[in-house]
Amino acid sequence: MMQQDTLAIPTLTESLLQVIRERRTFPPKDIDPNAPVNPEDIRLMLEAARWAPNHGLTEPWRFTVFMGESRKLLGERFAEAYRLLTPPEKYEPEAEEFQRRRPLAAPVWISIGMYRSGQDRYPEWEDLASVAIAAQHIMLVAHTLGYGSKWVSGEIVEHERVRDLVGLEPPSKLLGFVFVGRPAPGAQPKATRSPIESKVRWLS
Ligand SMILES: Cc1cc2nc3c(=O)[nH]c(=O)nc-3n(C[C@H](O)[C@H](O)[C@H](O)COP(=O)(O)O)c2cc1C
Repeated sequence: MMQQDTLAIPTLTESLLQVIRERRTFPPKDIDPNAPVNPEDIRLMLEAARWAPNHGLTEPWRFTVFMGESRKLLGERFAEAYRLLTPPEKYEPEAEEFQRRRPLAAPVWISIGMYRSGQDRYPEWEDLASVAIAAQHIMLVAHTLGYGSKWVSGEIVEHERVRDLVGLEPPSKLLGFVFVGRPAPGAQPKATRSPIESKVRWLS
C-alpha cells in the first residue's frame, strides 16, 4: 500500500474527491424542464471551464449558451440534421419532431466547441483534450450548485448545420452539448466504475 493511503486526507482533497465521485450524468427524464437555472450559476460553470489546462495557451474552448426561446432554434437545427442524415426509407416524422423538441428537455444547453485556426502549432488531440477538461469543469461546478448535467454527443447534435448555428467553421469542431437543469423529483442517476487497480500498473 502506498504511504499516502495511511495519512488523513486533507479537507480540500476530500471535498474535491466527493464532487468528482458524486457528479452524475442525468438522462433527460431526470431533469426538471421547468425549474429555472440562474444565469449567474452558468457564469460560475464557465469560469471553471476557463481554467482548464491547454497546451500552448490556445484556450481552444468556445461555448454558446442556449436558454429560453433560443432552444427552439437549436431544435430546428437538430430536426434539419435528422432530415439530412436519414435516408428516405428510414425517415419518420415522429423522430424529426423528437429532435425538434429535444432541447426543451433541459432549461440550458451549452455547445462545446473547439477552435482551431488551421495554422495550429500543436496536434488537434491536445485541443480536444483541453476542451473535454473544460466541459468536465462545467459539469463539476454544476453538481456543486445542485444541478444535473449531461454531455450529449452524436452525428445529429454535431452536424455542420448545428455547428454553423454556433458560429464554428472547419477546422474548428462542435463536440456536442452539455445540458444543465435542476434534478427532477426522485431523480437518482447511477453509474459504476471498475477498481482503478484493474487499469494501473505500478513500477518501481
Ligand atoms: C465526450 C462524451 C460524450 C458523451 N455523449 C453521451 C451521449 O451522447 N449520450 C449519453 O447517453 N451519454 C453520453 N455521455 C455520458 C456518458 O454516458 C456517461 O459519462 C457515462 O455513462 C458514465 O456516467 P457518469 O457520467 O454518471 O459517471 C458522454 C460522455 C462523454 C465524456
